[in-house]
Amino acid sequence: MAEPPSSIVKPLPEALLARQDGNAEMHWAAMAGQGHLVPTDRFFVRNHTRTPVLDAGTWRLRLFGTGLRGAPTRHTPIEFGYRDLRELPAEESVALIECAGNGRRFFASQQGEPAPGAPWGLGAVGVARWRGVRLSTVLHRAGLTDAAVDVQPEGLDPEYVTGGVNLGRVRRPLPIGKALHDVLLAYEMNGRPLPADHGFPVRVVVPGWVGISSVKWVGSIEVSATPLFSPWNTRLYRMFGPGQPDGAGVPLAAVGVKSAFELPWDARVPGGREVVLRGRSWSGHGPIRSVEVSIRPDDADADDWRPARLVAADRGGAWQRWRFRWRPPAPGRWILRARATDATGAGQADRATANDLGYLFDGIVRHPVTVLAPPPA
Ligand code: MTE
Repeated sequence: MAEPPSSIVKPLPEALLARQDGNAEMHWAAMAGQGHLVPTDRFFVRNHTRTPVLDAGTWRLRLFGTGLRGAPTRHTPIEFGYRDLRELPAEESVALIECAGNGRRFFASQQGEPAPGAPWGLGAVGVARWRGVRLSTVLHRAGLTDAAVDVQPEGLDPEYVTGGVNLGRVRRPLPIGKALHDVLLAYEMNGRPLPADHGFPVRVVVPGWVGISSVKWVGSIEVSATPLFSPWNTRLYRMFGPGQPDGAGVPLAAVGVKSAFELPWDARVPGGREVVLRGRSWSGHGPIRSVEVSIRPDDADADDWRPARLVAADRGGAWQRWRFRWRPPAPGRWILRARATDATGAGQADRATANDLGYLFDGIVRHPVTVLAPPPA
């Protein structure tokens, strides 16, 4: 039987990305030896439906709403074309985008608390160099007023239908404070025009916030003098479940602290000699201040934390590479753990806060490896 056409346009080589329904997860082993940025060929893809193929020549960005001078409506919007955006002052930002569900499968495998949704490992995250126009520049040109409280970008991909309900086009409100702070309308990724899967011709980039904020294929932005609501800040992308006030927390914003080894899951490691383990840690709340690693022969709680060496070039960056030297004491199965602390003092605990939709896993991941017997002398 012919394979159904993919909802993703770019090739998905098995060495770089794992297919997950309509999504693609980066293999952490594919980051070994890479620089600060994730090359575009292995950047994860998360689509609610499918990648639309849009024409920059006819594409328009339409702004409307009660937060703009004269309150233009959806039918009388302020419009910008692709060339208009290209002619505005450009900015670059090296920013991290992470899916709120990254690490979801560890709720089940480590905590016995399975959650529905894409069973991501740790590969639904990436850092790229984005180039575009500040959202604030476009908002001011469109006539932003002091009354604006929320802006809501909306994508041009097909409407999202789930459980028989049509939720409409992907859209999620962003508070005006964040919108004016560091948000970009990006038309380039890693020095090239945005690829189709990552939002061509223009996407929103909200550094350090849950990936759903970074709306791809943006076609319109509502600017409102009253708070805005969509399924993506009401029934999705909030913490639901016991322990949450009234059963639901506030809409998710910055991502928590995570750490990953640049190794395959169940990697094979040569025995009898020192190896250098590499990985990365990140947090949406600020730069990483320290990383520790613990390695044990079993799944028991770790108590032998030792500092990893941070790569100096990444200090203060969107994420932090690190190294840890290890001489495996014996062949067999070993459990690697890494935990980081960010500049706000936030860290990683053995368990993440369980929630119904499996968001924001920030627990310490237990990464198994097999140390091979050293070759006979
Ligand atoms: N924007 C639109 N229009 N449609 C989408 O399905 N997915 C969001 C966000 N923006 C999505 C979107 C989610 S959940 C994530 S994690 C990021 O895009 C993923 O960005 P990427 O595919 O470029 O990695």
